Amino acid sequence: MSLLDRVQRKADGSPASAVTPAPAPTPATAPNRPADDGQDRPSALPWQNRPATGSTAPAPAAPAPPAPRPFEAERAAAPAPAPAADPPRQPSLLNRTGGLARPGMGKIAGHVNTHVALRSKVHQRLVEELAQGTDSVPPEVVRQRISELLNEVVGEQNMTMSRPDRQRLVEILINDVLGLGPLEELLANEDITEIMINNYKQIYVEQHGKITLSPVVFESNDQLMQVIDRIVSSIGRRVDESSPMVDARLKDGSRVNVIIPPLSLRGPAMTIRKFGKEALTIDDLVRFGSITDEMVRFLRSCVRARLNVVVSGGTGSGKTTTLNILSSFIPEDERIVTIEDAAELQLRQDHVVTLETRPANVEGRGRVTIRDLVINALRMRPDRIVVGECRGGEALDMLQAMNTGHDGSLTTLHANNAHDCVSRLETLVLMAGAELPSRAIREQIGSAVDLVVQQSRLRDGTRKIVSITEVLGCEDNSVKLQDLFTYKQVGIDEDGRVVGSFMPTGVLPSFLEHLTTSGEDVPEDLFQPIHVMEGVGSTA
Ligand SMILES: Nc1ncnc2c1ncn2[C@@H]1O[C@H](COP(=O)(O)OP(=O)(O)OP(=O)(O)O)[C@@H](O)[C@H]1O
Ligand SMILES: [Mg+2]
Repeated sequence: MSLLDRVQRKADGSPASAVTPAPAPTPATAPNRPADDGQDRPSALPWQNRPATGSTAPAPAAPAPPAPRPFEAERAAAPAPAPAADPPRQPSLLNRTGGLARPGMGKIAGHVNTHVALRSKVHQRLVEELAQGTDSVPPEVVRQRISELLNEVVGEQNMTMSRPDRQRLVEILINDVLGLGPLEELLANEDITEIMINNYKQIYVEQHGKITLSPVVFESNDQLMQVIDRIVSSIGRRVDESSPMVDARLKDGSRVNVIIPPLSLRGPAMTIRKFGKEALTIDDLVRFGSITDEMVRFLRSCVRARLNVVVSGGTGSGKTTTLNILSSFIPEDERIVTIEDAAELQLRQDHVVTLETRPANVEGRGRVTIRDLVINALRMRPDRIVVGECRGGEALDMLQAMNTGHDGSLTTLHANNAHDCVSRLETLVLMAGAELPSRAIREQIGSAVDLVVQQSRLRDGTRKIVSITEVLGCEDNSVKLQDLFTYKQVGIDEDGRVVGSFMPTGVLPSFLEHLTTSGEDVPEDLFQPIHVMEGVGSTA
């Protein structure tokens, strides 16, 4: 989509193709033009020699606004954002106060109307200029021009505005035009790992494992919805009342979930799991105090020796991160097939096939599930299958794969401890609809899964591998487990940090011999409870 499309779409809600060039000062909402009408156009960018006028442009012919969403009653009731002297036009993205609650807005925050008017004028002029055949204007030029236009407008109004306020306003305009509005600031902050938008004026963020309410807000549901539309449409999907739940991805790979009314009662909600520029490594985890060197050594050997491992944990506990790290231990010469709902794994090996599920299309057809992909992966001659998360019937296929020559497979599962993990696996297998007796399921679990690596997010926001548990097998109709390493929390220090230590339980894994015969050097004393390590470290 061209820049003008984007700016104009935000301005009038028109579809991407409804783009019009118009000689200044014709407003940007003039009728569509064909892609090439054969007419000569000025070769220089119009804004390079544009006179400082334009606020007296005639009223544009506003296109019919899109049908309002039910939660947008406030939009209908909202006062026209443009100042009285301006020509009437459709509400634009820039006619917004998004970000006003941010610190640093200083005086601007106290002059919302002036601010809105300025943004509106700058936006209007930008649309006019972009409309003159400059679809491929580089972002730096737009950036520069926004700054110039703001100076121009501020000058015309005989206003004074401090340099920081001016810069701040330029930043907001740039985020509106080129990016994702108020979200940009949160996305740019590398300390923020998760953005949870409960509604347009309530955004929680996670920083260093701690969740806090952000001062950043959207101006309205309308503004939030425009940003959502932009994210979702960029990957060729749509979100509306008929499909109110969507998983999407940002350009940088960040995972996005959107849910809107009628399913979400207080307006659109969006959750973004930011994708770090660099995936966390095992060294990071050791440094953060999430795991000890001894545990790493053991897990590395288990993966190399083709044990089947399930990483278990609560939401956001770090399962995918740990899965990614465990996958990095797979030797280079093995063929890996990864299967995920939203591709998050970042494997460094070369011989990797990455598969991702697909939701149903608008007619409700074409859905491809994790289960479909697991079944397909078995025909792809994989040495290893890595499944991002088992949350349905695919658990049965995974167990069968683990039991039938695809050992060394890895997956994650949502459970609070190793015992829950096993029960949950059983429930998931039942979801496959195979009507297997529970004894048969438990036997499958007992023989398929070798290790459960339990991940937890503790009260102080740190994430730790709180247990590594061996699955011994099924006996007396129950799956037998034994802990090999555990994390014992003993208290909380005065700074609110969890105090505790990792410790081997002293039990030797029953597969120790298998590790040795596979060429892994795993000394027995690794499992002696002499290896106590304070589980305190810094978070990411
Ligand atoms: N050991 C760790 N120490 C600090 N931060 C971590 C650690 N592991 C993961 N994280 C961070 O925690 C966040 C959640 O991690 P991750 O996506 O791996 O969790 P998850 O359990 O897979 O989440 P979900 O249940 O949503 O799939 C990410 O921002 C990640 O960078
Ligand atoms: Mg995950």
